Amino acid sequence: MWGQTESRQPRLNELADGLNEFPDQPSRLLALLNEYVPGRSLSRPFYLDPTVYQWDWEAVWKTGWIFAAHACEISHPGDYVVLNIGDESVILWHDPQTGYAAFHNVCRHRGTRLCQDPCGRTQSFVCPYHRWTYGSTGKLLSAQGMGVGFDPRDYELHPVRLEEAAGLLFLHLGECPPDFLPFRVQLESELLPHGLAGAKVAHYIDYEVRANWKLIVENNRECYHCLSNHPEYIAATYDLARDRGEFHHELEERLDAARKVWRLSGMADDRVNYSSEMSGAWYRTNRTPLRVGYLTESLDGQPVAPLLGVFQTYDMGTARITTYPNFWCHANSDHAVTTQLIPLAPDLTRIRVTWLVHAEAVLGRDYSLERLLPFWQRTSEQDWELCHAQQQGVRSSAYQPGPYAEHWEKNVIQFVNWYVEQLRETADWLSQRPKRAIDAAT
Ligand code: FES
Ligand SMILES: [Fe+2]
Repeated sequence: MWGQTESRQPRLNELADGLNEFPDQPSRLLALLNEYVPGRSLSRPFYLDPTVYQWDWEAVWKTGWIFAAHACEISHPGDYVVLNIGDESVILWHDPQTGYAAFHNVCRHRGTRLCQDPCGRTQSFVCPYHRWTYGSTGKLLSAQGMGVGFDPRDYELHPVRLEEAAGLLFLHLGECPPDFLPFRVQLESELLPHGLAGAKVAHYIDYEVRANWKLIVENNRECYHCLSNHPEYIAATYDLARDRGEFHHELEERLDAARKVWRLSGMADDRVNYSSEMSGAWYRTNRTPLRVGYLTESLDGQPVAPLLGVFQTYDMGTARITTYPNFWCHANSDHAVTTQLIPLAPDLTRIRVTWLVHAEAVLGRDYSLERLLPFWQRTSEQDWELCHAQQQGVRSSAYQPGPYAEHWEKNVIQFVNWYVEQLRETADWLSQRPKRAIDAAT
């Protein structure tokens, strides 16, 4: 499940530290996990209970790679964006000296949040309280009146692990991240040709969806619901045809043609397929052709922006990226759309959908929002409504975990199994803490 180079023990020690304030919970969580029946949806507490929500933070959100922002959002030295996530706030900064960097948005004097703006450009961060000032690499540049013996090197901003790959920025809030390298290799092979690091954000929409974050991931991992809910999406893609075993000949022809084009373009074609299965435990990348007549994911299949990256032709299909717990992306030849989840409460999730186009594309001349947005805006909003309706139903005392359709919902099963495994290994380890303490003492 985790990368080869990762040590399991430090990760669990770190989790134990985070959970010390919830000493009675391992047994409760283990009991809940023991009720879990593989192949069925989770029980109510996993979607409603504040305690489980807290466990999610410790066992999933603080141990995984979190999609934070696009590199093009901080493309100039001094650019920054702030990601507020749970109790944490992180400044992602295009450090004038070192490149991309991330710091906890917490003053080292008395803890004040340094920066309240969501984004901007600066060469230093000045705390509003007593004006301690931080510069490149998080160094404390000035702290007036602190007297002799005060060493500013002891009070630099706390760094946050950050990785940039193919124009995407991922951060890790804990000490022992899963190995990023296998994901980087796949991601760069798939997404680098789209040149997202040199793209720009054309538009984004923030939603607050009344649903637990896991319901939103589950919804994204299947197309069982597509026929009755996504007319625009199924017109452009083969997902439904794949699941129904239809258009086999057409699918194979499109696939063969696509592989040739991709090879000629110097792109890897080894993950060109119709699969939506995870290629790693917490990530997947693949590339798939669009249906005949569709050059991109737009309502009429026609381009909605100038070509991205290295592309010479529009008919390049779609690169799809998914990472647990909070990100997916469809990248076409002319635009890319990313989706980021940030939990706000057990039944509330902030979702940011972002549209990217070539950095030099000019609004009104090269693209319009009227043509760029509708495909994914409609598809996304159709999903949010379904997720909200599911949350409403799960809240009812009549809700019971139901069976997933093994073929159609196999990726949901994979996600839920992955999630349960994250929590189970943590709960198992914590529940043995008293025994280990005794063993250590004797
Ligand atoms: S709390 Fe930031 S300078 Fe005092
Ligand atoms: Fe959907």
